[in-house]
Amino acid sequence: MADYDALAKTIASLTEGEDDPVALMATIACEVHHADDCFNWTGFYRVVAPELLKIGPYQGGHGCLVIPFSRGVCGAAARTGEAQIVADVNAFPDHIACASSTQSELVLPVWDSSGVLIAVFDIDSDMSGAFDREDANALQQILNCSFS
Ligand code: SME
Repeated sequence: MADYDALAKTIASLTEGEDDPVALMATIACEVHHADDCFNWTGFYRVVAPELLKIGPYQGGHGCLVIPFSRGVCGAAARTGEAQIVADVNAFPDHIACASSTQSELVLPVWDSSGVLIAVFDIDSDMSGAFDREDANALQQILNCSFS
């Protein structure tokens, strides 16, 4: 498991005083991606229009560019405002496969300081069952500290 205490401190120090959401997202995607070898795709899908997500910033191979709230694990996180922990993407009927190597996935909602959903944060792993509630809670706290 990633060292989330160290990760939170690094991100806080790198982003101190920064409030540009894309600068924050790029830095978080980079730091989280390199925090654990089993994180194979790490990044944000931003809310760009009602019920519509668009990719970036991210680290890893290319992903699909546009995801409506009605689709995929990312859409489920955006719709419900709840963490989506998918241990086996093959068993999640609505999963959108961007890389055939992906086996498990974690998607978290990202809110701004007014409580408006601005993005979802997605981590994909080529390992099945790579994420649990502890990962979700630690990463959600990092996101909340950075954006809300
Ligand atoms: N798997 C996601 C799509 C995004 S990519 O994995 C980068 C989903 O089902 O929403």
